[in-house]
Amino acid sequence: MRLTLRKRTGNLQDRKRRKIEREFGVPIAGEILDPQHWTQTALKKLPLDGNLDIQELFGRSAPLVVDVGCGNGRFILGSSVWRESFDHLGADILPVVIRYATRRGNQRGLNNVRFLVADGLKFVEKLLPKGSVSELHCYHPQPYHAPEKSLERLLTPRFMAAVHRVLVPDGQIFLQTDSKAYWDYTKSITSHFFNFSERIGCWPDSPRGRTRREILAIKRGMTIYRGSGTKLNHLHEDDLQKLESDLPMPLFTTESYLHKLDYEENLTRQRE
Ligand SMILES: C[S@@+](CC[C@H](N)C(=O)[O-])C[C@H]1O[C@@H](n2cnc3c(N)ncnc32)[C@H](O)[C@@H]1O
Repeated sequence: MRLTLRKRTGNLQDRKRRKIEREFGVPIAGEILDPQHWTQTALKKLPLDGNLDIQELFGRSAPLVVDVGCGNGRFILGSSVWRESFDHLGADILPVVIRYATRRGNQRGLNNVRFLVADGLKFVEKLLPKGSVSELHCYHPQPYHAPEKSLERLLTPRFMAAVHRVLVPDGQIFLQTDSKAYWDYTKSITSHFFNFSERIGCWPDSPRGRTRREILAIKRGMTIYRGSGTKLNHLHEDDLQKLESDLPMPLFTTESYLHKLDYEENLTRQRE
């Protein structure tokens, strides 16, 4: 009886001590540890020429999960906490969001994740070794509303070909956006490289949203378009090059209701 009471009190104190972070009321995976357990998850030194040495980076050989345009890292942090046997890389072009991601990775004492500042296309084309990635994720890529910026959109035939090259056989791609125009375009090119299908409803591991943007979009009642696919293993380099040159570029017009919302959201993210 006394033992049970002590055990219960102990559990209560443990729970009080655990530091769980929330964003929009939704917990971020893992907990903030005491500083002596913190790690270094920033990847600052990038090769000037050639690929990253993934095995050297993590000191082991494990399936690799990457998130391109990872923002504040919510998805990749969750995956690193929940899937210890996988290694993870999160890349974003904006240094400020990578600082948030890195701080959270460090404070959670994670050894299986690194974050880097890089352009998404350069990251996939130049830094990732061919045939090294088990899962490539890209959630809510910037839709770039201004027509003169359409060619800065990440999801293009060239990007899909680059993803195909870095995936392992049967490797998977996961894509998501809240712009129907971006989604319609994405589906039209993705099916040439992957056995791709649309997902109805949230990802089962994160019913309240895998990423910051997804949580916001759910809260606003927006429709979210999600899908995943498996690499079409039979495509060779000459097929990829032909698809790159034949498929259309992302010259679609985005929905006007997204413009103001994205403008405000960009300001908030940078001020956070
Ligand atoms: C709408 S936010 C989505 C962030 C996160 N994936 C999420 O779902 O919450 C788009 C992200 O893409 C990043 N981004 C924009 N252009 C990029 C590029 N060329 N390469 C890598 N990241 C890029 C932005 O800095 C931003 O963090």
